[in-house]
This record gives sequence, structure tokens and C-alpha cells, in this order.
Amino acid sequence: MPSTSINGVTLNYSDTGRGPVVFLVHGFPLNNTMWNAQVDALSSRFRVIAPDLRGFGQSGETGPFSMQTLADDIHALAEQLKTGPFVLGALSMGGYAALAYVRKYPGTLRGLILVDTKAEADNTEGKANRDKMIATVREKGAKATADAMLPKLLPEEAIKSRPKLVADVRNMMERTRPQTIEHALAAMRDRPDQCDLLPSIAPPTLVICGEHDVITPVAVMKGMAEKIPGAGWKVITGAGHMSPMEQAGQVTGAMESFLGGLR
Ligand code: MLT
Repeated sequence: MPSTSINGVTLNYSDTGRGPVVFLVHGFPLNNTMWNAQVDALSSRFRVIAPDLRGFGQSGETGPFSMQTLADDIHALAEQLKTGPFVLGALSMGGYAALAYVRKYPGTLRGLILVDTKAEADNTEGKANRDKMIATVREKGAKATADAMLPKLLPEEAIKSRPKLVADVRNMMERTRPQTIEHALAAMRDRPDQCDLLPSIAPPTLVICGEHDVITPVAVMKGMAEKIPGAGWKVITGAGHMSPMEQAGQVTGAMESFLGGLR
């Protein structure tokens, strides 16, 4: 997979297919392989670029960062790869970065796909939980984070009955550098609320949510979709927070029909 130097860090990314550009940004504490099914399916008609965010996957080590840093990295990578206007698709933490991106670079997008994410900042309890997780990862490493995250990322039913899916999600988490986990937790804890941005989002938007998502539940995401002018809304049945991996066909299908409808 290619890599390039962006804003002082080496970013690994996949760049597959030809056509209008779709950027896919992963969540926490994951990497770009979470989008494998969508990259395979969409790259027959689109140029699909899926970066490992700084510190994650095969990208280089980094010091502390913010959601704005991640947004700036996406912008710099798109500029370097000469994508022109593109569709930005992002899951969860990737979506937090995507909203920071939309605020700063609104004119560069043809479309926006927000998957299992939200616009609200962490509340007091959420911030305290981030601090606890930071203490855990410092003390016990990435495996402890994976143990804590797995039941939130996947529904109980999937954990019991889909060993390959569980292994794939767990491997991504366990391979993430503890320091990156710490930086990302702090960045999510400190991210600003983006709710005021929603009514001014101009690019066509699709909002996708797994019906059993406990991190960004259907009610929260539906509320977000209703505030974005003209946004499409799709609930993925039989999926939790990791809908693109859990029900890849449904998510890809929703993306394909959204992308097909863009001018
Ligand atoms: C993610 O999936 O990116 C994270 O779980 C989001 C979060 O913890 O807020």
C-alpha cells in the first residue's frame, strides 16, 4: 500500500479504482481495513481512497492530535493525490473528523456519508470514561482497550456467532499502538460540539446507522440526519456500530445508490 508524508507524519493509504473519488475514513481504534468490503465493491466505478489515520494501522507514529488535525490530514492527502472534489465517507471517530473537515473545507466535497457517528461532544460522564480508558491503556495496553471496546462495537449476538468478524475487529484494535489509542481518546474527549454545523451542511449527505448501535444509537443519528438539509437516512438491520463490516452488503448498497444519485 502506498504511503506519503503529510503534515509531518507518514500516512499509509489504499487508492483503488478509477472514477469520481470516494474517501473512506475509519473509526477508533481501527484502521482502513475496516472498509475492505466497500473498497472492493465501490472501486469498480469509483476511485476509493482509504487512509490509515495518523498513528493508526500502518501510518507513522505521531504525537498528540485533535479531530482538526485529522481533518487537515485528509485535506492535505486529497490535495497531494489531486482528487478534486470528492465524497467523504466516515465512521464514528472518522465522522467526528469529517464534521471538522466540513466546517473548514466545505467547498471541497461532492457528498458526505456519515456512518455510525454523531455531532455532539462528549458529556461530563463521557469525558470521565475517556480518562479511565486512557489510564487503562497506559497500564494494560491495547488488548485491554480491545476487551473494553468489543462489546460496544459489536452486538452480543455477533460476538457469539461470528468468530471471523470478531477476530478481524479485535486484531485491528490489538494492533493499534497504545500511544495512538491514548492520543485518540484525548482528541475525542476534547472535540468540540458540531451540532450548530448541521443545518449549514451543503453537500448532499447520507446518514447510515446500525440498528443495534450502542455508541451512536439510532435515535441520536436520526436526530442528526433531520438537522442536515435533505440528508438521506438508512438504518442497517442486524448491525451494531461496525455496520460496514457487520452488514457490508447493506452498507455498500446504500452508498452505491447515494453515489449513483450524485451529479
Ligand atoms: C469509534 O468507533 O470511532 C469510537 O468508538 C467513537 C467513540 O468512542 O466516540
